[in-house]
Amino acid sequence: MDAKIVLLPGDGIGPEVVAEGQKALNAVARKFGHRFTFETCLIGGCAIDATGSALPDATAAACKSSQAVLLGAVGGPKWDDPRAKTRPEAGLLKIRKELQLFANVRPVRAYDVLVDASPLKREIVEGVDILFFRELTGGLYFGESGRRPHPSGEEAFNTMIYNTSEIERITRMAARAAQGRRKKLTQVDKANVLEVSRLWREVSQRIVRDEFPDVQYEVLLVDAMAMHLISKPRSFDVIVTENLFGDILTDEGAMLPGSMGMLPSASLGSSGPGLYEPIHGSAPDIAGKGIANPLATILAAAMLLRHSLALETEARAIEMAVDNVLNAGHRTSDIAAGSKSVSTSEMGSLVVAQLEK
Ligand code: IPM
Ligand code: MG
Repeated sequence: MDAKIVLLPGDGIGPEVVAEGQKALNAVARKFGHRFTFETCLIGGCAIDATGSALPDATAAACKSSQAVLLGAVGGPKWDDPRAKTRPEAGLLKIRKELQLFANVRPVRAYDVLVDASPLKREIVEGVDILFFRELTGGLYFGESGRRPHPSGEEAFNTMIYNTSEIERITRMAARAAQGRRKKLTQVDKANVLEVSRLWREVSQRIVRDEFPDVQYEVLLVDAMAMHLISKPRSFDVIVTENLFGDILTDEGAMLPGSMGMLPSASLGSSGPGLYEPIHGSAPDIAGKGIANPLATILAAAMLLRHSLALETEARAIEMAVDNVLNAGHRTSDIAAGSKSVSTSEMGSLVVAQLEK
């Protein structure tokens, strides 16, 4: 297979981890006889520095003409001024919107050998296997917002807005995924307070009842979900929710396996390229030190092979290589619990070596 993949290393540890993701993809190409062509483009803070825009037109155009995009991370203290006229995060939001990536898929799986790296007790975390579907192009992130004068100074507002079809398409995607797993879908909202949530409940309930009768559907309020996610995470299979709730809950979920450095994510639309990234951020405190955990990005590369290139065997090969490296006892410092650790590039090379076996 020939495929064009755009790399968006971004800021902080982004370039370090994307380099390892690319190494893994190259190893897959060699092993399975594919040809992947890479184009590296600017996004985020480095793009603001170079062009004044967090998402230069050339980047958007390259992404649109690719099969898939692998992204590192955006942002950092250098661009954190709340009054700055453009922020690195705006680049990420814009590329999500331009590629119409309405579904952010975040698997949260506890690795047996890493269970003790979790801040939670082994008996809670063991066996956790959750698939989050976070809506990604609607809600408070994209609703009308602004500031206006107020007698006390100013007031600011954001609007949460969703329509029927936005809720239908993500519910369908999540319910379809549940059908291929343990057939349970949990929809998270705040329907006791928010009108938007009441629409979510109505629409998602109808879709599952009419189109996915074999899927068990339940609803949970987001505040209760925040508790249940750490008190009984094994009771969840697929979780679907709106943009901001999903942003918060997936970070909470990331603590189950112990380190954010292990978790990949895929942002998908109904057609066109998908965007794949680790769920961790740019980690400016450790940038340039060569100690970041590249496994989330390497696992994101596996998701890229699976969802954008339909290369399931190749995706599994990366995931098995990561399992084997962990089972052999190799750790980056975030998951080493104080014992001996390997560098970012050593970890990437260990995965490549497993792939080449
Ligand atoms: C994420 C991040 C982004 C988000 C930020 C960087 C804009 O937290 O992908 O979860 O809020 O969506
Ligand atoms: Mg987030």
